[in-house]
Amino acid sequence: MEKNQEEILTLAIESSCDETSAAVLRGGREVLANIISTQIPVHQKFGGVVPEIASRKHIVNIMPVIDECIRTAGVSLKDIDQVAVTYGPGLVGALLVGVSAAKSLAFSLGVPLIGVNHLEGHIFANFLSTPKLEPPFMALVVSGGHTALVDVRGYNHFKMMGQTRDDAAGEAFDKIARVMGLPYPGGPRIDALAKEGNPLAIDFPQALTEKGNFEFSFSGLKSAVLNYINSEKMKGHELNKPDIAASFQHSVIEVLVGKAFQAVKEAGRDTLVLAGGVAANSGLESRLREEAAKRGVNFSYPSKILCTGQCRHDRLPRLLSGSGRPLQRPVSQCSAGAWS
Ligand code: KG4
Repeated sequence: MEKNQEEILTLAIESSCDETSAAVLRGGREVLANIISTQIPVHQKFGGVVPEIASRKHIVNIMPVIDECIRTAGVSLKDIDQVAVTYGPGLVGALLVGVSAAKSLAFSLGVPLIGVNHLEGHIFANFLSTPKLEPPFMALVVSGGHTALVDVRGYNHFKMMGQTRDDAAGEAFDKIARVMGLPYPGGPRIDALAKEGNPLAIDFPQALTEKGNFEFSFSGLKSAVLNYINSEKMKGHELNKPDIAASFQHSVIEVLVGKAFQAVKEAGRDTLVLAGGVAANSGLESRLREEAAKRGVNFSYPSKILCTGQCRHDRLPRLLSGSGRPLQRPVSQCSAGAWS
């Protein structure tokens, strides 16, 4: 007898960067278990993620993480109806580990394998935080590897409005933090420092702000902050780190907020969704919320644990990039979404 869509169990696997994770979902939006093994302490001493080390750690961690996830969910492998996995974009060697594990499991269990785009995974975290959320909506994806505005037209239909030409927003946060002597990952540290600083103290540039341009660029801003820091040091001035953090963050946020609401208007959407690790930034969240209220736009924002894995060994449901596709269609038809 075919299972009701709401009862379908998905085992989701994610290994695109520095965390090995597995989740079991019932239906599309209920997380039964989510296990994350983070590698942050391993990469911290290098100031960023070392891809080769990440791949090797995934190999060691993947099966124990899956085992623990299945056990925590209170199910057994033979109950699993489908396996989902992040297939990219991400670190190639790291992705390969998750994809190989998912392929082997799907093959041996005789169930479908669903490849999930990493950006879709970030966006779909919002379906767990906001269960009533339905497409269409505009998504602002800001993570360590991506900055993009995606018009989500349906569960499987995405239009890329624009993305970064160079660095991702999270990458800029991490690099600036590193130059300021803060540990990896730098985003949360800059976020905390920025709360004590003046966002208008230093006039850092905002790129590609002309109307109708939905692309981003953060490399110029990054250079401007680095030049400012070097020139202050050469002058023998003590760095005002809170002001630098607040002014840098202000430039990033203003660009993201401005383009996000322009995109909402251009696509005729009434809802904006925030996704990705940088969604955990308190300044970004509050500016978007404030602007959404002013413009009468609905705003969905994933809880912190759903946007990033900073919560270390936490068992709370961080949505795995790969676990989020609600099952609106028969399982046999589920596949990676169409992007234009
Ligand atoms: O989504 P994620 O795990 O990366 C990718 O999937 O690519 O996000 C990690 C990124 C890192 O760059 C980290 O510094 C940033 O998210 N991040 C933050 C905050 N928390 C994490 N950036 C700014 N403010 C935060 N509070």
